[in-house]
Amino acid sequence: MNRPGSDRERIIIFDTTLRDGEQSPGASMTIDEKIRVAEVLERMGVDVIEAGFPIASEGDFKAVREIAKRIRGSVVCGLARASAADIDRAGEALEPAERKRVHTFIATSPLHMRVKLQMEPEEVLERVRDSVTRARRWTDDVEWSAEDASRSDRDFLCRCIEIAIDAGATTVNIPDTVGYAYPEEFADLIRHIRDRVPNIDRAVISVHCHNDLGLAVANSLRAIEAGARQVECTINGIGERAGNAALEEIVMAIRTRADLLPFETGIRTTEIMSASRLVSAITGFQVQPNKAIVGANAFAHESGIHQDGVLKDAQTYEIMRPEDVGLVKSSLVLGKHSGRHAFRKKLEELGYKLGDNALNEAFVRFKQLADKKKEVYDEDIVALVDDEIQAADQRVRLAELRVECGTGIRPRARMVLEVDGERREAAATGDGPVDATFKAIRAIVPHEAELPLFQIHAVTEGTDAQAVVTVRLEENGRTVHGQSADTDTLVASARAYLAALNKLLTKRGKTAPAALTA
Ligand code: KIV
Ligand code: ZN
Repeated sequence: MNRPGSDRERIIIFDTTLRDGEQSPGASMTIDEKIRVAEVLERMGVDVIEAGFPIASEGDFKAVREIAKRIRGSVVCGLARASAADIDRAGEALEPAERKRVHTFIATSPLHMRVKLQMEPEEVLERVRDSVTRARRWTDDVEWSAEDASRSDRDFLCRCIEIAIDAGATTVNIPDTVGYAYPEEFADLIRHIRDRVPNIDRAVISVHCHNDLGLAVANSLRAIEAGARQVECTINGIGERAGNAALEEIVMAIRTRADLLPFETGIRTTEIMSASRLVSAITGFQVQPNKAIVGANAFAHESGIHQDGVLKDAQTYEIMRPEDVGLVKSSLVLGKHSGRHAFRKKLEELGYKLGDNALNEAFVRFKQLADKKKEVYDEDIVALVDDEIQAADQRVRLAELRVECGTGIRPRARMVLEVDGERREAAATGDGPVDATFKAIRAIVPHEAELPLFQIHAVTEGTDAQAVVTVRLEENGRTVHGQSADTDTLVASARAYLAALNKLLTKRGKTAPAALTA
């Protein structure tokens, strides 16, 4: 698949942030959040969006269906194990999609077949044929994956692939499920498949690498050089255990090392930062500062020698231009005299398109922030707008908070919440001001959720910086995150807790917050 006039071969970007990414412990997303991520992926030019695992839960099914209804620019894909029930559920969820793919998988390594599947190899071969045949009833676009392919017997793996293609698979995916492969070894496996599978020319070879040894991106790139034409990846590299290959790293490596890699992707790289920020805000997973491409320090130059070099010619220490990944050098720092027009322009620069109501609310919050802070930086605006978007449909909202704390007194919080529009009040004491604040929330909306994570970091430098607070709540195996930013750490803490609590209420479905007080 080449661009007209381009001699570069096109690599298909298959994003699995919403499926494998969401399988990261603690990364679960609501349906609305998944839709927002899918829209950003579509805008970015992702070829295939794996939207979920429809049989896994009612929520997953609905999310895949809603995404299938809305997304037109990308193929929408749903995952299914090698069973008729799984495949039909995926097929039903994908029905509204303009372009759909059913992705079915079964393990092929001796260990997985014996211990997990408790199946003989011959039975697995039969399942491969049956599952792909079943998936073809729903769509012509069927992907088949050999789970734990990198630890499978090569001859057996090749037989599975041949059968999958014979039954109608148009993409065959070779996962390094446990992140065990080594780049040259993995490239050799891809070459072996190309040499030995007689019908391989009828399917696209895909790779799906996990990052347990930090080699997911290297393995993916070597596989491309060896003949893979689809890579599976996630934004910020989130995913099971140590994560998946990071989309932004693969795409920027292909682009930056075009001298070595005669390939191209259809990704609009200028959307990378907004996708990264959105996924981080929704999952509550902070991007480590030194993370390649999207970390806060990825384009920062601290040492004098480096700064001097970059000022003379950016290429001295920059191999990519920050603007190519969507990092706009701030032409405009906002302050309390900035008007609505400048604010709107800044939002556009940062990749946000808000409706009139959301824009008005964000502008009010911006003015409040600008009253407290002399200069409002891009990072402040991003935190503020993400907060606003997250708060849009909340049933439980913070109306007032007063906290007393200091030496010699027991911290005490008095709080008013709006619960489904009704004001409710409580006061509580605690071991510290945050503890008192959270206890006041529990007094108004009683719940048993545990708080395994409470994290604060400053958005920018200085004592007037906004604090971004991330809260994780867990209840009956459900995990949710909330995040909020404010110059007042306690207000940010209360809002972050409420953001998580609101998600928990949504996940519980029908239970009204009022009923929780019984
Ligand atoms: O890692 C893996 O093997 C997977 C498959 C389901 C593709 O995620
Ligand atoms: Zn995986």
